Amino acid sequence: MYDHLTIVKHPLVQHKLSLMREKETSTAVFRQLLREISMLLAYEVTRELPMTTKRIETPLKEMDAPVLAGKKMALVSILRAGNGLLDGVLELIPSARVGFVGLYRDEKTLQPVQYYFKVPDALEDRLVIAVDPMLATGNSSVAAIDLLKGAGAKNIRFLCLLAAPEGVARMGEAHPDVPIITAALDERLNEQGYIVPGLGDAGDRMFGTK
Ligand code: URA
Repeated sequence: MYDHLTIVKHPLVQHKLSLMREKETSTAVFRQLLREISMLLAYEVTRELPMTTKRIETPLKEMDAPVLAGKKMALVSILRAGNGLLDGVLELIPSARVGFVGLYRDEKTLQPVQYYFKVPDALEDRLVIAVDPMLATGNSSVAAIDLLKGAGAKNIRFLCLLAAPEGVARMGEAHPDVPIITAALDERLNEQGYIVPGLGDAGDRMFGTK
């Protein structure tokens, strides 16, 4: 349906996501599940990375061993909920560089406005993985990718936990070169812009706010 979208159907991902969706799941358990699921999603988002070889010596002999090619990748968290995905991804890719994009929605224009932007250098030479758990309307995701491209990024992937068809379509129109990796494509957005059935407000659920 969307050729820029990958849904990670791994049973562990799907099981953990179902637990996260349940409204009775506590903040502590939600956070732990998010950490576990983001490691599994990180495995998928890095599946096709370019490789090279390095001459190494095992205790038995020399060999050309496969290693990742190129500059260290950049993980960019779209604040604040992106930080929940960031921790688990960093556990799997501890040498990644990290950036942050802060956006809020202007209540009059409903457009995203930047309040924070700090990213690693030489973005043009790195794989950039933008993380945000919920791809809802797509407005903030599109704006964040606009900013990353403006800072030089050329090879970007977008990692989320849940996506709405509206957000996937919007990202596909604005940034067809950016693959989206998610654990589920839900039914739709409601009038308040929440993903249905979704899991509620991801930031509130992971940080225990209301
Ligand atoms: N952001 C959230 O946290 N939840 C949604 O359902 C949509 C956007």
